[in-house]
Amino acid sequence: MSIPTGGGDPVRLRMGAGGEAVGGNFWQQVGGRPTFERLVRRFYEGVATDEVLRPMYPEHDLEGAIQRLTGFLEQYWGGPTTYSEERGHPRLRMRHLPFRVDADARDRWLAHMRVAVDDLHLAPADEAMLWGYLERAAIAMVNTP
Ligand code: HEM
Repeated sequence: MSIPTGGGDPVRLRMGAGGEAVGGNFWQQVGGRPTFERLVRRFYEGVATDEVLRPMYPEHDLEGAIQRLTGFLEQYWGGPTTYSEERGHPRLRMRHLPFRVDADARDRWLAHMRVAVDDLHLAPADEAMLWGYLERAAIAMVNTP
């Protein structure tokens, strides 16, 4: 490896006080909107075939669900705040109370997400960060023993 001389993108190698790469947050670093849309569309392809999860989602509005999850994840990782402008405070646990999220639903959700994350072929550190979050969030969403 050569020492960066300004021709490449050496700035990304430095960390800001908050642990963020200087000049770019995670959302930018992994490719912005197109990356999150790909992730969520791939995820919903799996959901569409899932006999337990599919009935929980709006029958005729998977596109709406795709937009909501994409917007939320973009916002969470430092992208545009369109989600909250349209939907208000996420209150995700509360918004999931109408659905029966048990261990089986959680594992299915995560399995479809795993396929979608693998499909992105992110750098290992980025992938670990994204996956760690999704796993913790899914565990936190369980509301039925
Ligand atoms: C653990 C299993 C989970 C199940 C079974 C589940 C199921 C659902 C369902 C049925 C909806 C309604 C679809 C819609 O119309 O938008 C929904 C919405 C949503 N879910 Fe989940 N979910 C799970 C985990 C998660 C996790 C881990 C996250 C975040 C990382 C998440 C984020 C969202 C968001 C942002 C919405 C849209 C909320 C809104 O603005 O109305 N979900 N989920």
